[in-house]
Parts: sequence; structure tokens; C-alpha cells
Amino acid sequence: MNGSESNILDLKPDLGNFRSEFLRGMTSSPKELNPKFFYDEAGSRLFDEITGLDEYYPTRTEISILKSHCKDLSDISSTVKTVIELGSGNGEKGEILINCMPYLKKYVFVDISASSLEKALRSGSSKSSNIVRKGIRCDFSTIDRVLSGMFPETKLLVFLGSTLGNMEPAEVDNFLLRMAKVLNTGDLIALGVDLRKDIRILEAAYNDSKGVTAKFNLNIIRRAQRELHVPLNVDDFTHLAFYNEKKSRIEMHLVSRKNILFEMDGVKIVIKKGETIHTENSYKYSADELSDKLERAGFHDITVWKDPGANFAIINGSK
Ligand code: SAH
Ligand code: AVI
Repeated sequence: MNGSESNILDLKPDLGNFRSEFLRGMTSSPKELNPKFFYDEAGSRLFDEITGLDEYYPTRTEISILKSHCKDLSDISSTVKTVIELGSGNGEKGEILINCMPYLKKYVFVDISASSLEKALRSGSSKSSNIVRKGIRCDFSTIDRVLSGMFPETKLLVFLGSTLGNMEPAEVDNFLLRMAKVLNTGDLIALGVDLRKDIRILEAAYNDSKGVTAKFNLNIIRRAQRELHVPLNVDDFTHLAFYNEKKSRIEMHLVSRKNILFEMDGVKIVIKKGETIHTENSYKYSADELSDKLERAGFHDITVWKDPGANFAIINGSK
């Protein structure tokens, strides 16, 4: 065990969960899978590759917003002692926050992906800083139960990358209400959100010319093959991503190239040629919509940080 692993509290979020959710998703109509299953080691690596693509503007844009608000983050760190980051990925944005927040004592990375958490902790451990870095491996939808009473000091909860856009809007409302309950007066929240824009820019971000997003989408089939031993072949599916204007969301699907029939736990599963498995929604919001959601959940003093092109926003609130 190296130093970074020993700092991870592993709540084993995927134990049995992938199998039961895969079976449920394959027997739903239309078929669906939760995007949280993208992030095994290969999926997390592919996501990191996506963040460097020309077409995928959200990561570099959000980083530019964080850097341009370094002074605000520094001011925040005079009261906030702990940052808890949900869906922290490789930890790159966390390190920006740590660098901007000189009085911070603790940074807690929360992710479902073991490899991402290890990467986040490893990259930070080489830096000379007095900050305590911890990892919690869990499904962030259960974070209110995990956090309850765990960090009584004043804290900032950050949820970046527009990962909340991968939840249904009603789920976001419920999630924010639960966050408001678990946070104390004086605690802060910051949500990174991808904003509505020209459809061509949105669709290009999920249909990159190098085909990395397609590989990321198809990786869920490889994972099912490897972990659940289902007789599916990645070559029998194609990547589909488009903007659903009515619902303000990018939809990602896997389209079957042929009729497929297999059995899983005694259940017959039929995938027809042309049938789709819905793997992800990525909702796009306006900054006002997200500010309203935060306010309705019980947060106040809402402020919005945007890039000059208004492509992305970080919405801040106080409890
Ligand atoms: N915040 C980073 C990474 C975004 S990718 C960034 O902005 O670049 C989404 C991250 O959320 C991945 O690291 C993935 O492993 C994690 N994730 C997705 N669903 C999750 C869930 N239900 N619970 C915990 N982590 C999850
Ligand atoms: C993590 N999440 C916000 C990404 C998004 O843009 O919805 C995941 C992703 N899917 C395809 N490309 C990136």
C-alpha cells in the first residue's frame, strides 16, 4: 500500500451494484445505463483524454474561471478550513483550488473511481504543502450520509465539471436539498455548470474528430464484458451523441449494429438491430436556472462566475 491509498476511505460503491443496475437497464424500455459506470480505470483515462480535446471546451473553460477568481478563493480560505470536492476526477482542479487557498487545512477528494482518487492523491502528495489530502470512494449521491458529522469545521463543497448536468434536473433539486441539510450555517457551495450555447459547439464536444468520446461511450460495453461476463462485443455498437433541444441536454447512446440475444441471471435479454442503450444525459443550464435551484434549496448570497464568452459558470452560495 502506498501513501495515497492509505488516505482513501473506500466505501466500495460498486459491490454488486453494476450487475443489478446493468440487468435493470437492459430490461428497461428504452434501455439505459447510469453514466457512473463509465468510470473504471480505462474510462477514467479516456475522460482525461476528452478534457484535452479541442472540441471539449468545458474543462479548460472552467479552469480559466477558477484561475481568474484565485483572489476570491484566497479570501474564502480565510474562513473555510476544508474543501470537499465531489466527482474530483484526476484532481487537477483541486490542485488549482489548493494553490489559490493558502489558509486551507484539508482537501477531500470524493469519487467513485479508485484510479482517479489514487491519481488525485498521488499528484498532490509530491507538492510541498501542509494541506491534508484525503480521498473518499463512494457514490456521491450518498455523500450526505457519509459526511453527516464528519467535517464539523467550516467547509466549501465543490461540484465541478458540470457533473451535476449528468443528473436529471429533479434529481439535482433533491440532491441540493440534501446538501443544504448536511451543511452548517456559514458553509459554502460551488457548482460548475455548462451553459446553453450554439448547438454546433455542443454537438462537436461530444462527437470529437479523434473518436475519444466514442471510445469512452463504448467502454461501458467492455466493462460489462469484463466484469459481468456478458457476451457483448464492442464492435456490435456505435456511438451516438446529439443535442435534444426540448430537454436542453446532450444525449449519448450506443446503437446496436445487429440483433443480439443473451441470458443474464436467468433473464433473456434482446437487443434489436438499431435499438439504442441510453448511456448519458448532459444537461445544459442557464446561470439563472442554477442560481434559482440553489436558492430554492436554502442557499443564499448567490454569486456567479463566468468566462468572458459565457460558455461555463461556477455558481456559489452560502448556507
Ligand atoms: N471534476 C472533474 C471530473 C469530471 S468527470 C472535472 O471537472 O474534470 C466526472 C467524475 O465524477 C469522474 O471522476 C467520475 O469517476 C465521477 N463520478 C461519476 N459519477 C459518480 C458518482 N455517482 N459518484 C461518485 N463519483 C462519480
Ligand atoms: C463528467 N461529465 C460532466 C461529462 C459531460 O460532459 O457530461 C462526461 C462526458 N461525456 C462525454 N464527454 C464527457
